[in-house]
Amino acid sequence: MTLPNDHVEVVSKVITIERHIIEQERATGGATGDFSGLLRDLTLAIKIIYREVSRAGLVDILGSTDLRNIQGEIVQKLDEFANGVIFRAMDHGGHLAVMASEENDEFIPIPEEYPKGKYVLCFDPLDGSSNIDANVSIGTIFSVLRRVTPAETDGTLEDILQPGYKQVAAGYAIYGSSTMLVYTAGHGVYGFTYDPSVGEFLLSHNDIHIPDHKGIYSVNEGNYSKWSPAMQQYIDWVKQEQPEADKKAYSLRYIGSMVADVHRTLLYGGVFLYPADIKSKRGKLRLLYEANPMSFIIEQAGGKATDGRGNRLLDIVPTELHQRTPLVVGSPKNVDEVERFLTTTK
Ligand code: AHG
Ligand code: MN
Ligand code: MN
Repeated sequence: MTLPNDHVEVVSKVITIERHIIEQERATGGATGDFSGLLRDLTLAIKIIYREVSRAGLVDILGSTDLRNIQGEIVQKLDEFANGVIFRAMDHGGHLAVMASEENDEFIPIPEEYPKGKYVLCFDPLDGSSNIDANVSIGTIFSVLRRVTPAETDGTLEDILQPGYKQVAAGYAIYGSSTMLVYTAGHGVYGFTYDPSVGEFLLSHNDIHIPDHKGIYSVNEGNYSKWSPAMQQYIDWVKQEQPEADKKAYSLRYIGSMVADVHRTLLYGGVFLYPADIKSKRGKLRLLYEANPMSFIIEQAGGKATDGRGNRLLDIVPTELHQRTPLVVGSPKNVDEVERFLTTTK
């Protein structure tokens, strides 16, 4: 088996994601099966989204938005479709108290007829959706919290607005040249590759560790003129010959799908940034659906995730459902370099 880098252990056993979750739950105690049930439902939703994403190029042939497809269903935009799939897979299992999605203005209650569980799910159903038509990698991001309101009642906004360090699990699916699911439950980061022939996610990346440092930066540099002078100086600096990197400047890699940019950063190292600028004073990315789950994963892999101003993203106490935050995530030394510029330069 070829490995993306030497930071990932060789996996020689066939382990499905379901088995892995159950075994991890047992090993860490408190195995009620509730949490593994939640992730099983979510994995099913991800398989369904994968099926539609992989047929995206056929939509024009089979019928576009608002037309009926060959099964007689209304063909929806893929992000709306993915949103609906996750809701319908997760609303009735009895694991969740409430949900929140990037695609919904308000939080999503569990329908009256279903039992209310102890967990909370926040998600970005389709990330990088502007890339779909170009067949570029996109993804789904999720974050799981424990409810704080009384058991079995309807979940509220209070359950959702918790700082990221309270997450019990987080993960993403990347629909790329192969489809992968990467997740953490607070005991390391594990990657599973989807085998469509058996319909299972199989453990392929055991206990992922991000490299300490790498000469790669990932940012939408088209925003340069809107950035602070400190941010501009950092970018000017990475383009100079770097004494620690064989006198080479850093390489720029930017896909424009957060899932894909973070996934590469996790495996190859470097830094992914979405800073604030004069137009978007709080950056672009959303704390609950994008920043928190990705920060949890990056930290669990040995990386760092900050707002660039010395504040750990996982410590931010959210006040709004769709709150945005500036974001700097990646290899610990790369994040420190960014911090050095943003906190000391004017
Ligand atoms: P989404 O498709 O969920 O709205 O997210 C898009 C996000 C994220 O995936 C990516 O990192 C960022 O937008 C790219 O933004 P720019 O186009 O401004 O670079
Ligand atoms: Mn997104
Ligand atoms: Mn999205």
